[in-house]
Amino acid sequence: MTQNVPSYTGDIAEQRIDPSREYSAENQEIEFSAEQHSIWADLFDGVHQPYLLEHICQEWKKGLEWLALDPKRIPTVKHLIDHILPRTGWTIERTVVRYTLADDWYKKFAQRIFLITDYLRTRDQMEFTPEPDMFHDIFGHLPFLTQKFYADIEDKFAPAYMKATQDEKEVIKRLAWYSTEFGLVVQNNRFTVFGAGIISGRKELTRTIMEFYRLGRDNVIDYTKPIFPQLNEHFLANKADLHRIIDGVNELHRQGQMSSADEGWNVVLGLYKKLGIKQEGMFGGEVILAPFDVETIGRIPKTVYAFNPMLFVCESLEQMDAVLDSYLKPIAMRA
Ligand SMILES: [Fe+2]
Repeated sequence: MTQNVPSYTGDIAEQRIDPSREYSAENQEIEFSAEQHSIWADLFDGVHQPYLLEHICQEWKKGLEWLALDPKRIPTVKHLIDHILPRTGWTIERTVVRYTLADDWYKKFAQRIFLITDYLRTRDQMEFTPEPDMFHDIFGHLPFLTQKFYADIEDKFAPAYMKATQDEKEVIKRLAWYSTEFGLVVQNNRFTVFGAGIISGRKELTRTIMEFYRLGRDNVIDYTKPIFPQLNEHFLANKADLHRIIDGVNELHRQGQMSSADEGWNVVLGLYKKLGIKQEGMFGGEVILAPFDVETIGRIPKTVYAFNPMLFVCESLEQMDAVLDSYLKPIAMRA
């Protein structure tokens, strides 16, 4: 398969699904090259390390076993369906689209179809790719999709999205982004990674784990005491500054200054200086952790694809469920 990789400019264009260009129901499988299987194997091995796995939530690790992926070979769609459909009723469909338009994506979600792209990152993107490739889709999301709680979470989005106003659709996309893509959850009184976007990118994963350690080292969080209330206290005490940072990041994004991870971090550092916010406490790392809060997440009007200056933490998966319900259910239940 020849890859025609467009140069990355900060935003990934959302593409419509064109049925005439899509894989047919009978023809979902791809003959991958030896090089593609080898890229898969190296990506798999890169994350499947004890020192990284210990920071990923339990459900993903359980799901990875249930999904029975071959570390050395890209799975067939049939393998994925065989391991997911009987457990949760969700199925998998291959698409030529790299980043699906939200309207089309949620139409598939309403039918319990999870799309996986046919694109695999190239060797120069092993640590990070802003574009969700098939390693992201399969390795990041699908271990979760073997489990009912995750299917239940994914089931919440489409019914709300279908009835949402344009503004609400934007909030729904952010809520999905900062939960299933970039969410964190507290388990056994430790921060753990839940979002598929972090799990499937070694750079994002290590950057996040560094922050877990940094919070302890700088005495922001005392891991011998319950950590979520401490995070919440920092959040409430610094909410005004956090919102100033979000507004500033949005403005930088509008100016096209958040187009790569490195550039993103440098401009955020500049922003701290400009706003007079000291790089200490909850603002002392390369990423800000804050509780999963609809108001704050909804304030991010533009998803920052290249660089996430903050990540949101749920107290538990049940709490994530409840927060999502609080926003999504009233919309889904409209006449
Ligand atoms: Fe994703």
